[in-house]
Amino acid sequence: MTNLKVDPDRLWHDLMATAKIGGTPKGGICRLTLTDLDRQVRDWFKTRAEALGCTVTIDDMGAMFARRRGTRADIPPIAMGSHLDTQPTGGKFDGALGVLGALEALRTLVETGYETFAPIEVVNWTNEEGARFAPAMIASGVFAGVFTRAFAATRQDRAGVAFGDALEQIGYRGPEACGGHKLSAFFEIHIEQGPYLEAEHKDIGVVTGVQAMRWYEVTLRGEDRHAGTTPMPRRRDALVGASRIVAAVDAIARKHAPYAVGTVGILETKPGSPNVVPGEVFLTVDLRHPEMAVLDSMESAVAAAASAVGPELGLEIAIKNIWNQPPVSFDDDCIAAIRAAAAMSGYTIRDIVSGAGHDAAYIARVAPTAMIFVPCRDGISHNEAEYSSKEQCAAGAQVLLQAVLEYDRRLAERYARE
Ligand code: GLV
Ligand code: MN
Ligand code: MN
Repeated sequence: MTNLKVDPDRLWHDLMATAKIGGTPKGGICRLTLTDLDRQVRDWFKTRAEALGCTVTIDDMGAMFARRRGTRADIPPIAMGSHLDTQPTGGKFDGALGVLGALEALRTLVETGYETFAPIEVVNWTNEEGARFAPAMIASGVFAGVFTRAFAATRQDRAGVAFGDALEQIGYRGPEACGGHKLSAFFEIHIEQGPYLEAEHKDIGVVTGVQAMRWYEVTLRGEDRHAGTTPMPRRRDALVGASRIVAAVDAIARKHAPYAVGTVGILETKPGSPNVVPGEVFLTVDLRHPEMAVLDSMESAVAAAASAVGPELGLEIAIKNIWNQPPVSFDDDCIAAIRAAAAMSGYTIRDIVSGAGHDAAYIARVAPTAMIFVPCRDGISHNEAEYSSKEQCAAGAQVLLQAVLEYDRRLAERYARE
């Protein structure tokens, strides 16, 4: 390995510059996938990568690959990246650090003229968040063969706009078939989005895997009725049913403490008038746990709660499981490269399993993959107050750079032996 150093100020400058694209008054970012703001940040990324001499290719899911050649042009690149889309009240770091930290690592290679054995790529995956189009991690999911391209293209946002149409509209449907190019490995840095690194004063999280997660869409149907004239016993109030499901999801997750989590993040009530008993509710459920067996029991408990609520309140309740992400274990060689990289810089480390979903979780199915976490203040994320310091961000990018170089060195040795 070498003593190449990323530039903390340059990385911070890029984070703050792109945070203005969709910047919110409270200091966060609202840059939903495939909107015009997403187009603007993609244009920014493309321009910067091309200025570094990279070739930027785009696939038919809008995933962007900025490639710098290696001494061997005929082997798959070592890739690093994350996503530039955000939650509606997202912070400045979720996703952006993974792409811009990778760009800074690549810029350091360019600046010093360091030649890698494998080509190096910086990737921006489309719709990691799943905030506009469910499920999350659509482009990396297609890349890994989990979703078909047709499935992805037909996902609709809550206004009925299809993913494929939104992609066309911002001009980022590229010619390459998503998944059409192989990767020698994939590395992603990300803020932890949880409290452990900060609480234990560790610089770097060596991410050994990602917990399992499942998403559901629930529709409750009762009857629209006059709020002033319908006696309570005659009501079929879908929102009352929904409130019981919300409470059940919370209770079920608490029952499986400490690792289980359960969230109802969207609740839409129809017809939405103060004096109409709500006849229809749509809600989403997000259940997560590191073990599939526990997730199975949580799922059964939610179904049982819905089955009890339906007859009691005279509601029809339909639960659709729309996303199943099993637990992921990252690659030992990639993890070893990250440990070596952190040791080289003298950073303190802690192994950690990610509670959040990441593109790396899907890419792990098709390429050796691992992730690097950096601490964030109060463990807060999916919030405009999300914050990691310049030094913390730079530490992540530094470990990323050295991990990629370590992996590249081992790859060169492997090819030399073959
Ligand atoms: C991704 O942001 C997730 O839902 O974990
Ligand atoms: Mn993210
Ligand atoms: Mn996120």
